[in-house]
Order: sequence, then structure tokens, then C-alpha cells
Amino acid sequence: MMNIAIIGAGYVGLTSAAVFAKLGHKVWILDKAREKIRLLKNGKMPFYEPQLPELVREMVKKKLLMPTESYTSALKSAEVVFICVGTPPTETGESDLSQVFSAAEQIAKHIKKDCVVVIKSTVPVGTTEKVKKIIKEKNPPADFSLACCPEFLREGSAVENTRNPDRIVIGAESPRTAATLLKLHEKLPGERIITDLRTAEIIKYASNAFLATKISFINEIANLCDEVNANIDDVALGMGLDPRIGKAFLKAGIGYGGSCFPKDTKALHRVAISHAYNFKLLKAVIEVNRMQRRLFLGKVRRYLGGFAKKNIGVLGLAFKNNTDDIRESAAIDIVQWLLKEGARVTAFDPKAMENAKKIIPKLKTCKKVEDVARHADAILILTEWAEFQKLPWERIKKSMRTPLVFDGRNLLAPKEMKRIGFRYVSVGRP
Ligand code: UGA
Repeated sequence: MMNIAIIGAGYVGLTSAAVFAKLGHKVWILDKAREKIRLLKNGKMPFYEPQLPELVREMVKKKLLMPTESYTSALKSAEVVFICVGTPPTETGESDLSQVFSAAEQIAKHIKKDCVVVIKSTVPVGTTEKVKKIIKEKNPPADFSLACCPEFLREGSAVENTRNPDRIVIGAESPRTAATLLKLHEKLPGERIITDLRTAEIIKYASNAFLATKISFINEIANLCDEVNANIDDVALGMGLDPRIGKAFLKAGIGYGGSCFPKDTKALHRVAISHAYNFKLLKAVIEVNRMQRRLFLGKVRRYLGGFAKKNIGVLGLAFKNNTDDIRESAAIDIVQWLLKEGARVTAFDPKAMENAKKIIPKLKTCKKVEDVARHADAILILTEWAEFQKLPWERIKKSMRTPLVFDGRNLLAPKEMKRIGFRYVSVGRP
């Protein structure tokens, strides 16, 4: 079993820490946000993620997971140090690497044992090499080698994904470093891919960009289905059953959001620009995604003849289901545009209302999902929460001013909504 330090207690860092602890390793989880560490020490969570609270509490109790703000304690016996800090986008779309570099400086000061430093944050090509340079320049008190192991977990199923990865990518400087990381991961399933640092960095961006491409592609086919009166659900199924295409990530709607796809597609595009490569396809993927939420709003506007003084009920604020995360959420954009155009918005989300109110303080939210329907001129479904499928739609219809539902996630069955008496509009379905 190994001693591990993980820097950054976000979705990636905290989930990896809890899962490594469950495998029997001794893990120190460090974050510069004192409040996060205080919460974790008290068995509380800094964000919502299914299955994670139980696992974190169990591991903290067993003293296999140690939350700390101190680099000295985290790094004094670490054999492997993971950097899992955020790499948010700058205004120009590049990744802001300041947190990665400042973690590197702290590592240089505090490592006491020969160790492997692993970048798990999503970083542009060449960053792992830069981190090496930063640590080396500070003359650390112990020897170290560098690796890049990108993470592929999804918010909402982070624990499950980390315990059952499809693949473990290890970009390493030397066979010896790769061997240490193979040993660290030995109890986990999934294929191993051993490669160099730059290739590992690109694998992560290429994976996210490809998934984003699938989404933008299916959204454009759905827009076309709207024009020709065809059904995107059947089109996606008919395509997805071909194993070369695959069924996953062919759900049409209002486009992708979150802290990863929007940022990573733009960052990869910036990498291409900085190498004078014109990545036309990726540019279109980003553009289509930007357009998709606007197209949806346009559809609603056309039906309602404008938003001034219209009561709009919004179901869903998170960027996707099973999370309270609203970063780059299409729902948040749409709500902001609605408010700007004079609509009276009442919103409900099972987990994300508190976070939404931090950026839209005047947003009216309600505790019961049915309350968004009261006197509504229309209901907009903006996040794919499964519970919205089971709502008492017959009762909801009675409390609305106009029985009009715009489903931005193709969550409900058109025939059933029509049977109840709704005018029901979704994306690419007749
Ligand atoms: C994504 C990747 O799926 C993970 O593999 C990756 O590790 C992660 O980014 C990351 O880089 O950290 P995540 O952002 O948690 O994970 O969310 P996804 O489940 O991929 O969904 C992203 C967005 O695409 C959501 O807004 C979702 O609603 C949308 N989406 C997804 C669709 O519109 N259609 C689909 O078919 C699938």
C-alpha cells in the first residue's frame, strides 16, 4: 500500500482520494480552501455528488483519508502526489494554469521523500513538462519524477466511474515511474495505456472534444429533423446501434455545459491556434453548442410572441442531472436571457437552486416542483433530471395559465403529453 497526497478537493481530487483510500492506500487530501477541509473533517461535503459522502465519511473514520490544509503533513511521507486543482478558462479560452503552477511550487518546497508527481487536472500539451521545470528550479529536498494520468469521471457518477474505469492512461517520463503508477492502480479494472506525457495530455482533450462533437452533431441532426418532420430519438437509436457509432452521447437537447466540455473544447482550439493549425471541425462544434441554447429560446419566444410579463416555469438549473453544479449550464444562460427580456421566471431544481441564486440573486425559486406551474404561460425543462418524468403532469396542467411545455432535454413522451392536452415542443421530435 502507498502513501498518497492529493492536492485539490474538487470532484476529481476528492473522489480519487476516497477511492484510493477504499483500495487500502493512505491518502492525504489537501485544499487551500480552509472551509472545504473543515467540512470534510466534520464528515460534511463541499458539493453534492451521489455516493461520495458515505465513502468519504467511512474513509475519514478509518483514518485512511486525512483532510488537511498543511502541505507539510500532506507531503512528508507521500510516494505519489496528485495535482487535481482547477484549470478554469481565461477570457480568451486558454486554461488558467496558475493553480497548477502554485501547487508545483508548494510540492518543490515540501516533498521529503522520492516521489512521483502526477498531473490529473486537464492541462494543455506541454504543461506536465513545465511543472517539472518549476519543481526542479526550486531545488526540492528529495528526488521526483513526473507523470500525467488524466481523469475520465463524470459528475453525478464520479464514484462509480472511478471504481470502474474503462481505461487508465499513464503518461510517464520513464518505465520506472509507469511501474509505480501501475502498482498504485493494480486493484482497479480497465485497460492500461502507457505512453509519454504529451500524448496523455492530448488523450484527455481529444476524448472530451470527441464527446462534445457527438453532442453537437446530434443536435444539428435534431434541428434538421425539426425542419423535415422526422424523429431524432429513432434517428439516434438507428445510428447508435451500429457499434462503430455507439448509443452514448447522442441525446439531443440544448447543448452541453459543465466545467469540462465548454472549457476543454475551447482550450484545445487555443492549442491548435497556437500551433498555427486550423481545427475547423472543433470550431464548428463550439459554435453549434453556443447556437443550440439560443435556437431553443427562439422557439419559445416564437410560440409566446415575446416574454414581457409572461410567467415562465423553469424545471432544472444544473448543467445536467445528479449534480448541483451550474458551471456553464445552458439552463442558467436561458434563465438569464428570459429575465432580461422581461419574463417572470419561477424555477425549481432538486439540488442546484442554492448555487443558481449565488449568480442570479433575484431568481424566484420554489420548494415544490408543482409550484413552478402555478399561472405559468409555459414550462421549460432545462435539465435532464429523471424525476421530471414522473411528475403529475395532469395536475400540473390544471394549474397553468396555458398548457404549454418546452422540453429542452427530450425527457417526456410527446404522445403522452399530447394525450394529457399539452401543447408540447421538444428538440427534433414531431
Ligand atoms: C465530462 C466527460 O463525460 C467525462 O468523461 C470527463 O472526465 C469530464 O467531462 C471531465 O473532463 O472532467 P461531465 O462534465 O461531468 O463529464 O458531464 P457529462 O455527463 O459528460 O455531460 C456534459 C454535458 O453534455 C451536460 O450538459 C449534458 O447534459 C450534456 N449531454 C451529455 C448532452 O447534451 N447529450 C448527451 O447525449 C450527453
